[in-house]
Amino acid sequence: MTFSKPQRPTFILAAAAVVLGGSVVARAQSPGSTVWSGVYTDEQADRGKAAYAANCASCHGDTLAGIDVAPPLTGAGFLNNWNGTSAGDLFNRIKTTMPLNAPATLSGRTVADIEAFIFKANGFPAGQVALPSAPPMMANMKIVSQKPAN
Ligand code: HEC
Repeated sequence: MTFSKPQRPTFILAAAAVVLGGSVVARAQSPGSTVWSGVYTDEQADRGKAAYAANCASCHGDTLAGIDVAPPLTGAGFLNNWNGTSAGDLFNRIKTTMPLNAPATLSGRTVADIEAFIFKANGFPAGQVALPSAPPMMANMKIVSQKPAN
């Protein structure tokens, strides 16, 4: 009886922490669930670098820093725009609206290669499996700007 008073609020706080923390832990631990778990290959990013130079650099710049109205494709501002979306969302954005002067002219494979290059430029690590060119397969690859703690 003497313990019932402090125990009750402690229990509620602990339960709330489990509910709030549970989803975060599950996301960080499920493989392939964020761009920090290696969702493209180095070879793919190299192909993407060449395709970027040919199709994107004239507006977004050789270093992806942006030129005039074409925004940067690396850095805090870019990552802030895409934080919480998926690799599939970014794929669709590029595939359907870019290059701005010739939208929807690039193959899915080329778009995936360019996206891999953009991921590499943003510091996301390479892995063993190439980024697919099918958005439904990338819906669970979350773009998160900060590397999740294990
Ligand atoms: C003719 C110039 C031009 C070319 C070429 C071009 N872009 Fe863009 N891009 C823009 C402009 C301007 C915007 C901002 C306006 C808009 O969103 O339409 C933009 C926006 C974007 C965005 C959204 C950025 C954000 O922070 O939300 C992405 C991603 C992007 N471009 C990727 C690409 C990729 C990848 C290529 C090459 C396949 C490419 N662009 C080629 C001009 C260009």
